Amino acid sequence: MNLCSILGIEKPIIQAPMAGVQNWELAAAVSNSGGLGSIPCGMLTKDQVLFEIINFRKHSNKTYNLNFFCHKMPEINHQTLEAWEEQLLPYYESFSIKPLNEISGLRVPFDANLADAIEPHKPPILSFHFGLPSAELVTRIKSWGTVIISSATTKEEGVWLEENGADIVIAQGYEAGGHRGMFMTSDASTQLPTLELVACLKHELSVPVVAAGGIATSTDIKEMIRLGASGVQVGTSYLLCDEAKT
Ligand SMILES: Cc1cc2nc3c(=O)[nH]c(=O)nc-3n(C[C@H](O)[C@H](O)[C@H](O)COP(=O)(O)O)c2cc1C
Repeated sequence: MNLCSILGIEKPIIQAPMAGVQNWELAAAVSNSGGLGSIPCGMLTKDQVLFEIINFRKHSNKTYNLNFFCHKMPEINHQTLEAWEEQLLPYYESFSIKPLNEISGLRVPFDANLADAIEPHKPPILSFHFGLPSAELVTRIKSWGTVIISSATTKEEGVWLEENGADIVIAQGYEAGGHRGMFMTSDASTQLPTLELVACLKHELSVPVVAAGGIATSTDIKEMIRLGASGVQVGTSYLLCDEAKT
């Protein structure tokens, strides 16, 4: 099956989920135009995720993608936090800002609570950044008939994603905007340009490979497809759309 049939879209273009700069509005505009609109949920609470789904549905009857992070939460080190506060204090004072006494803006990984919340909506597509959730959650998501996508930045990550249940793998080349989805390495020298990573993953994987990173024109898209990509995921180019919150 090709990418469009798997995802239920007309054009092989996924609008990249971009936490902090867009919501259901951009996703609905893209899905209504025949691509796949994505709703970034990595920085949202459970209630905010549900708000996004409901609003998307009010404005589109097309398919959509919910994007979550699945990193391991680092342990909070209060000593380090206090040291930061102390360093920043003069800036807080000069700009008359009240220092935060609690941690806010946390990126919380996908878990069973979030799965419980979205299950009644049976989202057609879920995409993940930084690997995949637990095997148990992957099985549960698949039981809804949901397609699972995740980003790879190296050959090893791509192979691991396919082996652990990804139906589609995004080849996130080093040109990609935003944070990188690296989850098996933190060594920046392992990162490949989009063209090379697409060719490498295409060779290694049997699931569809989607190219991401530095793609902005129809010529770029044709080039990626010529190299074997089943489609593209585009982020930065959407940042100036009226529907984005940039
Ligand atoms: C502002 C910004 C925020 C992003 N946030 C996310 C995110 O929340 N989740 C995610 O999976 N990818 C995120 N990405 C990465 C995109 O999925 C994608 O890999 C990238 O945008 C592709 O490269 P391009 O920006 O050159 O098109 C973000 C990218 C940008 C530019």
